[in-house]
Parts: sequence; structure tokens; C-alpha cells
Amino acid sequence: MTTTSNLTVASPNIKYTDDYIFSQYEYQETLVNTVDNKLVAKPYSTSLSIRTDRRVGKVGVMLVGWGGNNGSTFTAAVIANREKLTWNTKDGEMDSNWYGSITQASTVRLGIDERGMDVYVPMSQLLPMVDPNDLVIDGWDISPMNLADAMVRAKVIDYDLQQKLRKKMQHMKPRPAIYDPDFIAANQADRALNLIRGTRHEQYLQIRADIKDFRSKNKLDKVIVLWTANTERFCEVTPGVHDTAENLEKALQQNVSEVSPSTIFAMAAVDEGCCYINGSPQNTLVPGLVELAERRGVFVAGDDFKSGQTKLKSVLVDFLVTAGLKPVSIVSYNHLGNNDGKNLSAPKQFRSKEITKSNVVDDMVEANRLLYAEGEKPDHVVVIKYVPYVGDSKRAMDEYTSKILLHGTNTIAVHNTCEDSLLATPLILDLVLLAELFTRVSFRRDEAEEWSPMHAVLSPLAYLLKAPLVPAGAPVVNALFKQRANIENLLRACLSLPPIHHLQLEHKVP
Ligand code: NAI
Repeated sequence: MTTTSNLTVASPNIKYTDDYIFSQYEYQETLVNTVDNKLVAKPYSTSLSIRTDRRVGKVGVMLVGWGGNNGSTFTAAVIANREKLTWNTKDGEMDSNWYGSITQASTVRLGIDERGMDVYVPMSQLLPMVDPNDLVIDGWDISPMNLADAMVRAKVIDYDLQQKLRKKMQHMKPRPAIYDPDFIAANQADRALNLIRGTRHEQYLQIRADIKDFRSKNKLDKVIVLWTANTERFCEVTPGVHDTAENLEKALQQNVSEVSPSTIFAMAAVDEGCCYINGSPQNTLVPGLVELAERRGVFVAGDDFKSGQTKLKSVLVDFLVTAGLKPVSIVSYNHLGNNDGKNLSAPKQFRSKEITKSNVVDDMVEANRLLYAEGEKPDHVVVIKYVPYVGDSKRAMDEYTSKILLHGTNTIAVHNTCEDSLLATPLILDLVLLAELFTRVSFRRDEAEEWSPMHAVLSPLAYLLKAPLVPAGAPVVNALFKQRANIENLLRACLSLPPIHHLQLEHKVP
């Protein structure tokens, strides 16, 4: 299957063939050195060839935690959009959309027209991407409930739409999953009825068999595995167990109890050649797992969907710090009443979430030595409480206190109410679509070199993730608009288009 978009780049630096788009790209950076206590900035340029495979193929997604609020809402949203379903509410007839998805509902600035006015195109039109309507969905859950009943249990989708989706979802049944009560909250035990028995290695083999079965039954070219199951506690990363691929494989064989269920899913996915994405906070992607992915040439990405409070935080703190204001205290309260909230009411699982929510301002703070001394950070506290009545409708209240001119104080209070799964679902779609696209992009410096894929740790997905995993030694970027620019400019590089610079000199220089 070759997907075409109606965009063509006319440039001597781009070549289209039936199967590939070849881009010749000048990557420009500035090297900064300190010479005699003075900074010397030296621009330089690196020539790169970038090749994008235009053959999208048939793509399947397997969700771990398929029967949860996110899993059932994602499935409902894909079907509702595919079938262009409409439904009635007290506010009238509604139609399906992909609001919240950057690939489906956001545009990117392509360039200017002859009058110097901006021209925008949907992000999905820049390069060949999977059409969400063509996705095939499957997955695992420790709860045996079919997807139609799971959607009802989630209480996210409007009643009338549920009626229209019921028949299309009731035959979908999650495959048995790996359950270890030591890793998720004890309050989840009553739904753990759909389980793979046996040792860790036997469970791993079963997950591999499931992926193979899904792939062959649906004649898929590619499968992407994404964790949207309950948040696990962090595993104790132990030398000799989690540190290398070899040790991790040995630990799996020896049934070592600190190899978490999510790491077993990830190992199985990677060994099946499938990209693995971690939508929850836990440290699934231990160093041994990353090494395994590097060895197999497979992508991994994580951690934790950046859907609501943290997304806003990664905008607001960036705004404050770049405005020269100094956030000194950031306090975030959440309450939610869905099963995720119930699981997070247990201390160890809450701790996982607290960790991913806590580091999100570090890069912005560290970028400004005028405001913060080395090692200085704002006070940053995160509270999460389980309040069953509010269901999936999560409340997030944040208070940002900043020092302003001459030690004045500015306090911003934000109250955010939103259905959690309606925010997370479009992120799941974008993660899958962008990860799939990046599997088709490769690079080389000169013609003598083999084409190489991007680094196995897929950091360009950071926009969608709270605690972005990056290749060892690479800087972590949390600021939302930098993350967004990273995706846009990377897609533009694949088309030999220069990065967006917002200079608009046409309107400034006579
Ligand atoms: P949920 O509790 O409704 O769904 C999780 C599902 O995972 C449940 O159906 C459960 O039975 C299943 N499960 C638990 N352990 C499993 C295992 N080992 N294997 C297979 N299935 C297993 O939770 P929800 O709301 O769908 O959230 C899912 C995850 O996404 C949570 O970890 C949450 O922290 C994370 N997340 C959600 C966000 C959002 O909804 N806006 C934002 C950021 C992260």
C-alpha cells in the first residue's frame, strides 16, 4: 500500500521514486566553545541524506490494558471515525472527530503564498502516514470483559454513541495478560481474571505467540505494541538483572521477580520486531531493554502520556521562565474517580506518577542561569486523590507562584476539568502513527554508508509523553513548543524543507 499526499516539494534537493522520498538536507547548528573565558559561537553545517519509505503497509496496534478506559475509548474513537458515526445528545446531533490529535486535527505551516501569507496543511499531509481508518486493533487485559462492556464500564462515551458501537465492539475480547499483584495496586485484584499462567519466560513466549497470531491472521506488515494498562510500581533496577540485554534475558529465564510484567511485554514486542510505547509512568524501559531494542533495530518510546495538567505545565513554566519571571512554587492537585485513580491511590503506584510528573520543569529551569543558581529548582509538589464520584472527569488544580520585578509575587491558579480518556486517546493515535512513520525514515552521511534508522529510543515523540526517554547522554526536552517544533522540523527535513524560523523577513526588509 502506498499512500500519497497531494503535496509535492519542488527542489533540486528532493527526489521522489515510487517507493521512496530522498531528501538532501543541510543540518545547521552552532558550536559554542569557551576560549580565554569568552564564549565563541561557530555556525556549522552537516550534509545528510534522508530517505522516507512511502510504503505505509497494513498496520496493527496491540494495546496492553485494552479493556481499560483508554483502550476502550481508543477503540470506540477509531470505529466511530471510520464509520463516520453520528449520535444524539441533549445538545443535538454530534459527529465523530479526532480533536486532540496533532496528526489528524492540527495543521503545520508549510510556507508562504505569493502575497507572503502563511500556507498551512494538515500535519498528516506532510509525509505518507497510516490512515487511522486502516488501523487494526487487538490487545490484552487482565479483565476478560469484551470491549463493548468495557466501554460501558468506562462511562466515557455518550450513551447514544455506545448503542451504535455496541455491536461492533462486543466480539472484541482482550487476550489473557500477565498479572503480578506485586506490581499494581491490591485494589485491582478483583478484575484479574484473564491471566497467562506460568513462569515469566512462559508468559513472554505467550505474548510473542499472540503478536504472531495477530500479525498472521490480519496479514499485517507492522505491529505496534502500546502499554495503556495500570501504572505499575517502579521495579528496583538491579545490576546483573536489568543493566544489560544479556542479563535481562537471563533474568527472564530464571524467573527473577523484579522483572515486571510491563518489561516482559516490552521484551516480547521487541523480539517480535515491534515498536513498544510506554504510556504509563513506570520504568519498563530499563537499560537492558533499551540495549535489546538497539540490538534488534526496534524503536521504544516512553514514558507516560502527556495529556492534561503536565501538558499545560510544560507550556506555562516555559512561558514564565522565558519571560524572565521566576517560578518558585508549583503545586498541583488532582482528583479523579476512574480505575486509574483507584490504582494510583496505592502509595507505590502513586510514587511512579509523582516521579514522571515532577521532572517536567527541569530543562526550562536549567536553561536560565540568570534566574536560578546551579542546582536551584522551584518547590514542586504533586498530589493525587481518588474520588470515585467524578469518574473519568479528572480535576486538576495548579498554583504557580513566581517572583517578579523587585521581588514582587505573582500567583496564577488554574482549574482544569476534563475527561481523561478523551485527552489520552488522540495521543495514543499520534504515538502509533508517528512511531510508524519514523520506522520508515533512515539517514546516511554519504553514499558509501548504509542507510541507518533513527536511534532506537524514539525521542521525537516527547511532545506526547510526560517523562520523555532519550538516548543515553542526550538532553531531555520538556518544553511543549520546542517538542512540537522538533516534530514539525523533522518532518520538514524529510522533505528537504528548512526549519520553521518565524522570521517573516518578506514583511520587514524593504
Ligand atoms: P484503566 O484502569 O481504566 O485501564 C487500565 C487497564 O489495564 C484495565 O482494564 C486493567 O484491567 C488493565 N491491566 C492492568 N494490569 C494489566 C496487565 N499487567 N496486563 C494487561 N492489562 C492490565 O486506566 P486508564 O484510564 O485507561 O489509564 C491507563 C494508563 O494510562 C494508566 O497507567 C494511566 O496512568 C496512564 N495515563 C492515562 C492518562 C489519561 O487517561 N489522560 C494520562 C497519562 C497516563
